[in-house]
Amino acid sequence: MAAAIVVLGLVALVGPPAALGLDNGLVRTPPMGWLAWERFRCNTDCKNDPENCISERLFRTMADLVVSEGYSAVGYEYINVDDCWLDKERGANGQLQPDYSRFPNGMRALSDYVHRLGLKFGIYEDYGNYTCAGYPGILGSLELDAQTFASWNVDYVKLDGCYSHPKDMDRGYPEFGYFLNKTGRQMVYSCSWPVYQIYAGIAPNFSSIIEHCNLWRNFDDIQDSWASVESVIDYYGDNQDAIIPNAGPGHWNDPDMLIIGNFGLSYEQSKTQMAIWAIIAAPLLMSVDLRTIRPEFKAILQNKGVIAVDQDPLGIQGRRIYKKSGIEIWSRPITPLQQNYFSYAVAFLNRRTDGTPSDVAVTLQELGLAYPGGYAVEDLFEEVSYGVLSPETKIKVKVNPSGVVILRANIHLPRFQSQNQKTVYDPYQHVFRTTARPNF
Ligand code: GAL
Repeated sequence: MAAAIVVLGLVALVGPPAALGLDNGLVRTPPMGWLAWERFRCNTDCKNDPENCISERLFRTMADLVVSEGYSAVGYEYINVDDCWLDKERGANGQLQPDYSRFPNGMRALSDYVHRLGLKFGIYEDYGNYTCAGYPGILGSLELDAQTFASWNVDYVKLDGCYSHPKDMDRGYPEFGYFLNKTGRQMVYSCSWPVYQIYAGIAPNFSSIIEHCNLWRNFDDIQDSWASVESVIDYYGDNQDAIIPNAGPGHWNDPDMLIIGNFGLSYEQSKTQMAIWAIIAAPLLMSVDLRTIRPEFKAILQNKGVIAVDQDPLGIQGRRIYKKSGIEIWSRPITPLQQNYFSYAVAFLNRRTDGTPSDVAVTLQELGLAYPGGYAVEDLFEEVSYGVLSPETKIKVKVNPSGVVILRANIHLPRFQSQNQKTVYDPYQHVFRTTARPNF
């Protein structure tokens, strides 16, 4: 099928003092790691299911595997606890405490274990009276809980929003961020603030969210199905004009976990999730049993070319540029830059179900790739290089049903220019600046 392409402040009124913007210098590219929730949920039955229950043992095992199976070598670094780690009661001194029957050595010991492996440690709480699963929330103890996390050397806090009033979040999320900052320990701050407000019919104040959170959820919890992944992809495509401008180094939209390697996605669908998550500059948080994952899914999660797209230093979230008859094209501006031109990652997605691959044929120019010197084009999953192609070249890809082809098109830099000039892009002014490098 030949596709014709149309290219297309501070918040708190009361509470903590001024200048509490997060700006913690963390996650200049989207965070990567492992997060328990989607795969392991709230299984607290360590008596009958000791290997899969939410416990110290599970997190130690996953941390070990992140290192020994090569995930850390390609960038995955956070080991993140989600809901159901807590005791139902706070300790005598009012401090949060884990369920010691499942975390017998406490959270500091688990954090130390993770750090000894060269990884980082994340934890979950909720800005409400309870977490979503009914464990103690932070409301009423914000400062103490921030201090407790710092004392456990936590590196990443996911703050959920069950059992709280979405209207209070405009004050509450910045306030907890302020207390996190005040501890002096740098912690990534993952917020569920906008999604609860959107559900409640409140328009989120994104300038405040960007200022106070490193990442935030906009949409539903991901589930173990292709339908769920499709719904996330549609949300990010349908709402792109509103949400793309909010993403950038240090602050990211979070479409939720990678479910690759579980029960619900085929091989093709798994590649699709990985590719689209990379295009939309998503945090790459795997939620999968690393003990049993099949090698082909592990290879998708460890695809260095796709990860490099996700982690591109410009931090520009990509967009859907074409959608017709079940074919979508998504594109993301990436490095290297030259004059006023970006390089691009381009993903061709086939949402059709008529069981045979679809051909998509398009010139680079129609995709918006107009650099006169051409682009070095490669297929990131097939690891095929197409050489240097001019903007007029028509490329043709075959995309499997519910599958994807993802290409990287790097600006072809003439040798003398690449040595003497450097182009940088200012995402805030939306301008390119080309500087002559000193010639020594
Ligand atoms: C949801 C959240 C999930 C998970 C769950 C735990 O609200 O979106 O990612 O954290 O709560 O109960």
